[in-house]
Amino acid sequence: MSSTDRIDTRVSRLLGVRYPIVQAPMGWIARAQLASAVSNAGGLGIIETSSGELDVVKDEIRKMRDLTDLPFGVNIAQLFVRDPGIVDFVVAQGVKFVTTSAGDPRKYTKQLKAAGLTVFHVVPSLDAALKAIDAGVDGLVVEGGEGGGFKNPRDVATMVLLPLVRSKFDVPIIAAGGICDGPSMAAAFALGAEGVQMGSRMVSAAESPVHANWKNAIVAAKETDTVFLNRFSRPGLRALRTQRSEQLEREEHVGFDVFGRAMDLYFGGDMEAAIALGGQVVGRIDEVKPVAQILDETVTGFRATISRLAPQAAGAV
Ligand SMILES: Cc1cc2nc3c(=O)[nH]c(=O)nc-3n(C[C@H](O)[C@H](O)[C@H](O)COP(=O)(O)O)c2cc1C
Repeated sequence: MSSTDRIDTRVSRLLGVRYPIVQAPMGWIARAQLASAVSNAGGLGIIETSSGELDVVKDEIRKMRDLTDLPFGVNIAQLFVRDPGIVDFVVAQGVKFVTTSAGDPRKYTKQLKAAGLTVFHVVPSLDAALKAIDAGVDGLVVEGGEGGGFKNPRDVATMVLLPLVRSKFDVPIIAAGGICDGPSMAAAFALGAEGVQMGSRMVSAAESPVHANWKNAIVAAKETDTVFLNRFSRPGLRALRTQRSEQLEREEHVGFDVFGRAMDLYFGGDMEAAIALGGQVVGRIDEVKPVAQILDETVTGFRATISRLAPQAAGAV
């Protein structure tokens, strides 16, 4: 079997993609350059809104039309979207898939579904999953606490959360948190996912727009090199360990002002200027690679893992 064959699941069918591998929405990073590379490689690129720069984001969504004929999605990060007009814009642009996150799933689901879009909500717990299902979403992005980014301070690892949510609901699930390759994708499928989302891995990709210092920090990081900020406050954040983040980890509350100089970090490469969000899986990423290679190796590794396990299950070894 070649890695060009489709992986056929409810997620790949709903998204209209060859492989149910989704690039995570990430402020300033999940823009057309990265997202189009993922869509063109057979996965699903997603454009972010969490930067709050909605005019720029709208241009990035328009740019996607020139860069790919294949499907892509948009994430509506509710905490950061001050202009609800973004929903009409996304609909008008013909986007077919939206993930909603960081907010009440009831806010946009009806409107998006009425316009014919497929809606997945990002959930960090079973309670949140129940709320999203009640709101009428088509599926869930089940996100474990080992992942990078904004987190529920009561974090639950993918290994526990995914099979728990799967045992209660039959909707299609995209697993997020800790996935960077074929074996981790196969593990997510074993636990009930029909698609995976990669965040940290995509930050490190060649087409990711962040400064090389950030990518090199991911490559150099060990699995113990992330910190969890706001353990007893909100928003919980998982980020790469730096001098600054290590100090902030001890603070009772860390506010949004830590992102004040984000551009100096993201594009200037000053790793102490802000917080470099990242998940524990950075410990498994040891090379900057082009998106097409990441997807190709993931699909090949996914198939190899399943083939290796099947005879064991059948008692043939
Ligand atoms: C730099 C960075 C920024 C992120 N920003 C967002 C965001 O804007 N919206 C969102 O839903 N998730 C965001 N996340 C979480 C990712 O969508 C994803 O679920 C997570 O990275 C998965 O875990 P992983 O890092 O182990 O792959 C972000 C993650 C990172 C690393």
